[in-house]
Amino acid sequence: MTLVSKLPDVGTTVFAVMSGRARELGALNLGQGFPDYDIDPLLTELVADAMRAGRNQYAPPDGVIELREQIALKLARCYQVEVNPESEITITLGATEALFSAIQAVVAPGDETIVFDPAYDSYDPAVRLAGGTCIHVPLRTPDFIYDWDRLRASVTSRTRLIIFNTPNNPACTAATGADLDELAAITRDTDILVLSDEVYEHVVFDGHRHHSVMAHPELRERSFAVFSFGKTLHATGMRVGYGIAPPALTRELRKVHQYNTYSIAHAVQYAIARYLFEKPDSWTALAEFFQAKRDRLRAALKGTAFELPPAQGTYFQLLDFSRVAAPGDIRFAERLLTEVKLATIPLTPFYKEPPPLAVVRLCIAKRDATLDDAAACLRSFRP
Ligand SMILES: Cc1ncc(COP(=O)(O)O)c(C=O)c1O
Repeated sequence: MTLVSKLPDVGTTVFAVMSGRARELGALNLGQGFPDYDIDPLLTELVADAMRAGRNQYAPPDGVIELREQIALKLARCYQVEVNPESEITITLGATEALFSAIQAVVAPGDETIVFDPAYDSYDPAVRLAGGTCIHVPLRTPDFIYDWDRLRASVTSRTRLIIFNTPNNPACTAATGADLDELAAITRDTDILVLSDEVYEHVVFDGHRHHSVMAHPELRERSFAVFSFGKTLHATGMRVGYGIAPPALTRELRKVHQYNTYSIAHAVQYAIARYLFEKPDSWTALAEFFQAKRDRLRAALKGTAFELPPAQGTYFQLLDFSRVAAPGDIRFAERLLTEVKLATIPLTPFYKEPPPLAVVRLCIAKRDATLDDAAACLRSFRP
């Protein structure tokens, strides 16, 4: 039998590889982005309650209506927008499924999709599985800012979709209102759609606010916006996210979603709906919570040869090792793993054509003690 792979160049994700290696070596894991602390016990109780109440069979494919209503209320508060829970909100298996289903829904063979590198790793394979081609436009280093002229030059008559991610993983930058205006200008009077990955919407630092396509009337009309309760509730394993889009786009997304995952864990959806009802402000503390962690790690590494570029958002912090070792982030991440037992994530896998990189990504969604231990590991590194 000859098996022709549809994704011949794809291996295991860098996150799974690094987490596996960390377990193997007993290393501290600041690689993959997941919290190492508990979720709110109230949420645990609500999930248990929902299961005890018998919510253990298929949920409605578009999502439990109580949850969609809570999301609509949250969007109204966050972005002053009116979103119809019936026709514009779909509950998905994490943001990953919302991204995947949206891409399969609108990208056809021969279509081009533009992504900005470094790009979250699920975009490119999803586009290729849809038969499309991914056009990679790099952010301008060292600050990872948008090069709008380059984007303009990359748009062709075949461009179908632009995938945008703010706050950006792994660059740790947050788009400005002017960035969104550029995106709107480039897509104006075209059929190009936007897929906006906003899973870190509540993790924007230093008093800045998140600029969502939801709050940009022009972009809102042509965008899917994707969010994740994994990030907002510190519960990446619950696998609940959602996609928002105008009704015509939502209808297409749901056509894929119903054959992809059909519906999402009933009890968990119901529990999250009740949680949002009981704690409607829970997300307002997230920026401060993660900023304190970012600042703790930055303070703990002050005076070392490592530099910590400004992190505007997400639950990551980049570590610049250019004064410690030669560029080569994969090699350096391997050295940290084996020499000081610290797992990090190199940025090279987020690129189609990686430049020489002297940064690795650290996850700050960890207990303070874990961050202190990680700083001690880094301090013990000998060039
Ligand atoms: C930028 C970005 N998009 C999407 C996802 C996936 O989110 P989820 O875990 O809800 O599927 C992540 C997870 O780390 C992410 O960082």
